[in-house]
Amino acid sequence: MKRPFLCLLLALSVAVTKAQTITASSPNGAIRLTTELTSNGELSYIVTYKNRSVILPSALYLQFKEPAVALANFTLVKADSSRYDQTWKPVWGEYSSIRDQHRELKLQLKDRSGSNILVNVIFRVFNEGVGFRYEFPMQKDLNHFIVSNEGSQFHLAGDHTAFWLPGDYNSNEFTYNHTRLSEVNAEVSKSFSSISSKTFFDSNAVQTPLMLKSDDGLYINIHEAALLNYPAMNLVLDKTTNTLQSHLVPDAVGNKAYLQTPAKTPWRTIIVSDDAREIIAANRMILNLNEPSKIENTSWIKPQKFVGVWWEMHVDKSRWDYGNFNAEGKLIPHGKHGANTANVKRFIDFAAKNGIQGVLVEGWNVGWEDWFGKWKENVFDFVTPYPDYDVKELQRYAKSKGVKIIMHHETSGSVTNYERQMDTAYRFMKNHGMDAVKTGYVGYIIPRGEHHDGQWMVNHYTRAAEKMAGYKIMGDMHESVRLTGLHRTYPNWMASEAARGNEFNAWSEGNPPSHETILPFTRLMGGPMDYTPGIFHIKMSHYDPKKTNQVHTTLAKQLALYVTMYSPIQMAADLPENYEAKKDAFQFIKDVAVDWDDTKVLAAEPGEFLTIARKAKGSPNWFIGSISGNSEAVSTLRGKLLSFLPRGKTYVAAIYRDATNAHWKFNPMAYVVDRFLVDDTTNLEIGIAPGGGAAISLMPATANDLKTIRKYK
Ligand code: NOJ
Ligand code: CA
Repeated sequence: MKRPFLCLLLALSVAVTKAQTITASSPNGAIRLTTELTSNGELSYIVTYKNRSVILPSALYLQFKEPAVALANFTLVKADSSRYDQTWKPVWGEYSSIRDQHRELKLQLKDRSGSNILVNVIFRVFNEGVGFRYEFPMQKDLNHFIVSNEGSQFHLAGDHTAFWLPGDYNSNEFTYNHTRLSEVNAEVSKSFSSISSKTFFDSNAVQTPLMLKSDDGLYINIHEAALLNYPAMNLVLDKTTNTLQSHLVPDAVGNKAYLQTPAKTPWRTIIVSDDAREIIAANRMILNLNEPSKIENTSWIKPQKFVGVWWEMHVDKSRWDYGNFNAEGKLIPHGKHGANTANVKRFIDFAAKNGIQGVLVEGWNVGWEDWFGKWKENVFDFVTPYPDYDVKELQRYAKSKGVKIIMHHETSGSVTNYERQMDTAYRFMKNHGMDAVKTGYVGYIIPRGEHHDGQWMVNHYTRAAEKMAGYKIMGDMHESVRLTGLHRTYPNWMASEAARGNEFNAWSEGNPPSHETILPFTRLMGGPMDYTPGIFHIKMSHYDPKKTNQVHTTLAKQLALYVTMYSPIQMAADLPENYEAKKDAFQFIKDVAVDWDDTKVLAAEPGEFLTIARKAKGSPNWFIGSISGNSEAVSTLRGKLLSFLPRGKTYVAAIYRDATNAHWKFNPMAYVVDRFLVDDTTNLEIGIAPGGGAAISLMPATANDLKTIRKYK
């Protein structure tokens, strides 16, 4: 509930000839927002953190194509402020309850250039940062706008270092560049993406979430929240002034957004702290800027782990497609089809045996011979299996083992085709005992040439999540737009990929060891990622001696990712035989939770290291993941890190760590599993290999544990 803000926070000067300034501070006073409307109608804002400049005076304006007006010249009609403090419970997540405490400032403005268009600019100031959005209430005459430009500026106080991705309109599947802003050159720095797009980006633009660090140690994260019915925001850089300006992803004909009043833009978010750990914890601010769940009964939404007929295709052991067409157009099997009934049963058996709830099956439906790179529409129908895949029998078999098959809908960018078939496809799923689907949008969006991150596709993902919810289906979207906290509103939208996942390690130059220490500061700020951790066979030469590709981590680090890379739908991505061969390490994947009561970021520096502890929901168990992004040097996880444990209570710590001679490149699979008795005062000291990690499970000790397991150190 909003309450009018009683304290004096309006320092609104009345004289029209003078600039009108209004300030609002965060509840703890550390962050201060100042808005200014000059006498000639220009609106700008400033943000400070502990009296240090975060955002210098930065302009806010919009440009419409229809009607052809620049909204840059405003009169203040009214300013309102309020304060808010409520706690809510997410359906699943990193915390069982989240406090939303903020001050709101609402500026009701009128364009004074003649159009009389009404715009509200709303700011919310949290302890973690600032969010702002534009609202277009119903107008007197005209209620349909075409936005050609949004000029929200972020004038930074210096040439900060940045973890950035090129401002591509279609893909986020790049490795991060780490340079000063003045060195951004997206054209040169683009690494390969599976939706490789040579033409659809701005060479001077970067994507959000953008992670910045100032020379004097301020961490600043710029992103957006509640991206609905609007394109995603890239940021164009003016290097002469260190100013970033919103650049909306255009549609097929170059327009940015089509709005019908009442309308609102997503929130633009600026998160700031002098402690990197607080940036990760502040992903809650993005959730707080999203609307509560639209789904009333959420009991069918189940966080889970899954295995799948998946990695075996990425390592080329089997194939998605069934065969090759001969000269007469007949499909001749090549004998390597992965999604066959017997193979899927093998995965179901493995899942059932190990308490894993789901089995993803890719390549089960006809069309994969034509799926990629041919720009063909209507390749998939989402209901017709290949001849060696017995849907009914697998439904029966999975049910008998208490396991659910996870559906796969690869659209290969043919999204109108998918929209036409969604109802049929979701009905088919429900009729065959499936309640989760992984969708995919590899390739350019056909036929119209929309972009993955444009308004049309943003609306598609939301429509898909809503439609899935109507069928009580959970979704995991690959190649979607990056997330903006919408999982609060649509908690059945469990995860997205929307970044460069583990799969790149199977068939490309891969992801550098720093990659997973950056993602929680960037992509994951907006929500869970289906990164597909858990690869035990690190080198692809295992599958083919000619291959030099490898996962750029140690095995122990793959385990730690289950804690550091939050998702409520988490894959155990490697092959069952690779897990069977290392049962002691696989135990961590079996034990680790996917839904949490609490999260503590113990240590963090983007690109360098990350240690997170989480308490499993409704359980006394805790799990720790610690990863190193340093590809050269050994590091140590050291200190009284377990102080979150209940005081004086003895726990068993199962420590999964790198062997002393482990190294992500030279000896990635060398690990050790130790068990010790620990408590809240234990002083840990665990060596972490270059590109390595450690995973720890903490469970209350039983009477027998107290007798048989030795104390740490
Ligand atoms: C790309 C996805 O990210 C991957 O997980 C999937 O296996 C392929 N597309 C095929 O749909
Ligand atoms: Ca992908």
